[in-house]
Amino acid sequence: MTDGKANLRIGDDDYPLDIVPAETGNTGIDISKLRADKGVVTFDPGFANTAGTRSSITHVDGEQGLLRHRGYRIEDVAENCTFLEVAYLLLFDDLPNQKQLEEWTQTVKHHTLLSEEMKRFFDAFPRSAHPMAILSSATNAISTFYEKYNDPRDPEAVSESARRLIAKMPTIAAWAYKKSAGQPYIYPRNDLSYVENFLHMMFALPVAEMKIDPVIARALNVLLILHADHGQNCSTATVRFVGSSQANLFASVAAGMNALWGPLHGGANQAVVEMLQRFHDDPDMDADRAIRRAKDRDDEFRLMGFGHRVYKNYDPRARILKKFADDVLTTVGLDDPLLAIANDLEKTALDDPFFQERKLYPNVDFYSGIIFRALGFPARMFTVLFAIGRLPGWIANWKEMIEDPATRIARPRQIYVGEVERQFVPITERP
Ligand code: SDX
Repeated sequence: MTDGKANLRIGDDDYPLDIVPAETGNTGIDISKLRADKGVVTFDPGFANTAGTRSSITHVDGEQGLLRHRGYRIEDVAENCTFLEVAYLLLFDDLPNQKQLEEWTQTVKHHTLLSEEMKRFFDAFPRSAHPMAILSSATNAISTFYEKYNDPRDPEAVSESARRLIAKMPTIAAWAYKKSAGQPYIYPRNDLSYVENFLHMMFALPVAEMKIDPVIARALNVLLILHADHGQNCSTATVRFVGSSQANLFASVAAGMNALWGPLHGGANQAVVEMLQRFHDDPDMDADRAIRRAKDRDDEFRLMGFGHRVYKNYDPRARILKKFADDVLTTVGLDDPLLAIANDLEKTALDDPFFQERKLYPNVDFYSGIIFRALGFPARMFTVLFAIGRLPGWIANWKEMIEDPATRIARPRQIYVGEVERQFVPITERP
């Protein structure tokens, strides 16, 4: 690249391309006119080398292992903020002052209830339903009670929808859990903080007053912050894709939840704990054997919670969680054997050339499930917790997309490699 231009040579032709400058991180090469000018498209399965947008929300430096939200270090916001404070930062571009935070917190508290009809919605599911299926369905369902706020081009309607989604997600999540547990739904309480209210709806029973352990509330606050946003990951990109057709915010977020559910993405936190539990229950399985299986191309086994498309260094969130896991388990007085297995697996993997050459490190999902478990959540709720955390990040990215004048409906091209043309054969003449 020279003088702000890149040059693409196609056959004997030079094709100059503009540069898309970045404040930090990778500079871009603008190929937006390549097909019109040259009749060719780029090929990048999984979009590992392709930026689909400019964004000012979150920067991830995979080589350095850095994560910043609107320029603030994840370590600083995780240590010093409430989750709603970080949600405000993501949605409104900077940290709130005391008055702004109080107003924002009150606004969110005002919308925590679900319409009473929604109880029949939850009742319609089998108790065995995975809570992620309920979460995405209920997210679409509640939009039917607020259709006047569904216009994506009306900024005030979008703000109303954003507040309702953030306020109601813990209620939906808790009621999905209560449904699976066969327990009565617990209504939100606006005298509690966001995280305390969620814990109350999750674990309270009508037969006795529930005391919220401040250590558990504090731990969950940090966990939600660590999941709040992470650039153009699979689920956030999905939210942007769906919103680019001008689908409403609820529908776009519900789509993101379904992308998050996959075990290669947010579903990994549940897969990690299930993997560790299998190790614990199988006397023949140890770290060395697990690493051997993970390296064997003919073995479908993967070391869940390891590896990342962007981080080629330790995920800063995993670093925080690893230390946090020790603290939380000690504080709640739980001696979880899965933590020792996880520590042993990590050490063995990080010492192995296969993992070193591919720069495979623990990611956010490797330790988070162990902490969620210590806080009393069942494994099938772990990805739901990830979704509650990621919700402000999804909304912030959707808003940035819908407000960006450069936004067009997302519609990638393909390289067609199928049959070019075949003569039609009536069914009576087909062999
Ligand atoms: C999240 O994008 C985000 O920001 C996501 C996230 C967020 O906050 O939104 O950070 C949250 O989704 C974290 C990732 C959770 N998923 C897992 O833990 C599942 C296990 N990890 C992998 O499946 C994988 O590492 C991915 C999906 C995370 C990344 O996949 P990539 O970038 O497509 O990498 P790849 O599959 O092409 O792997 C590159 C090489 C391969 O070996 P070779 O073909 O070069 O020989 O590394 C190997 C892979 O076989 N590899 C692994 C491995 N991960 C990659 N080998 C064993 N165990 C693993 N976990």
